[in-house]
Amino acid sequence: MKDVIVQVEDLTMAYHDKPVLWDNDVDIIKGSRTAIIGPNGAGKSTLLKGILGLKKTLSGSVLIMDKPLKEVKKEIAYIPQASSVNWDFPTTVMDVVLMGRYVHLGWIKRPRKEDYKKAEDALKTIDMYDFKDRQISELSGGQRQRVFIARAIAQDAEIYFMDEPLAGVDKKTEKIIMDFLKKSQKEGKTSIVVHHDLNTLPEYFDHVVILNKRIVAQGPVESTFTRENLDLAFGGDSGD
Ligand SMILES: Nc1ncnc2c1ncn2[C@@H]1O[C@H](COP(=O)(O)OP(=O)(O)O)[C@@H](O)[C@H]1O
Ligand SMILES: [Mg+2]
Repeated sequence: MKDVIVQVEDLTMAYHDKPVLWDNDVDIIKGSRTAIIGPNGAGKSTLLKGILGLKKTLSGSVLIMDKPLKEVKKEIAYIPQASSVNWDFPTTVMDVVLMGRYVHLGWIKRPRKEDYKKAEDALKTIDMYDFKDRQISELSGGQRQRVFIARAIAQDAEIYFMDEPLAGVDKKTEKIIMDFLKKSQKEGKTSIVVHHDLNTLPEYFDHVVILNKRIVAQGPVESTFTRENLDLAFGGDSGD
């Protein structure tokens, strides 16, 4: 039995009494790069929010590294769907990346030299160091997405949750993000990514969770990412 790093049992979630996820069990394997796929409205974003305690669940349990969420928050980085973020707030690139360090700060909550260094290194990793003093509102979509990746990098997390990080970004940003996830995997880290492009999935991920309100299938890409499972989830409308 492989190491399970995120264990979801019997998860049910609803908006205004209308269930969107039914009784789902999900096991995320430690060190995997796992894609979550499913049609629009399948509950992919809702599943991440349920796991991360950002939305109330009706029933079910979530264990992360064998512990309840509140004990492992430092280890978890989350990058929400870009369309759900308000980009107009007045803040610089550096401030956004420093937010990744807040989980590590003491009660004074003032970043130290070491925190600035980690933030700067993270900006270099995603090729945005030259933009560190810019306002976030002045950046392109791809550049903003990279800044949010830098915030996650600066956090030094064990698990990265990303909700459609490649939606609407340029090729360069796509490559930077996927290279980062591959490098993180070599360091033993786990990523869980809502992904919309089925064509690139086998290249970018090694595990997949196929969802449409219920889990249709989950496991290694080779055995799980099959025409049959895609048809079950997408109703024969999976694409191309
Ligand atoms: N804040 C909300 N209020 C009411 N319904 C919502 C809300 N967010 C999502 N939903 C509904 O829940 C379902 C699942 O949404 P979501 O998790 O965003 O799907 P996905 O990310 O797979 O596209 C959809 O039917 C959506 O309309
Ligand atoms: Mg979504």
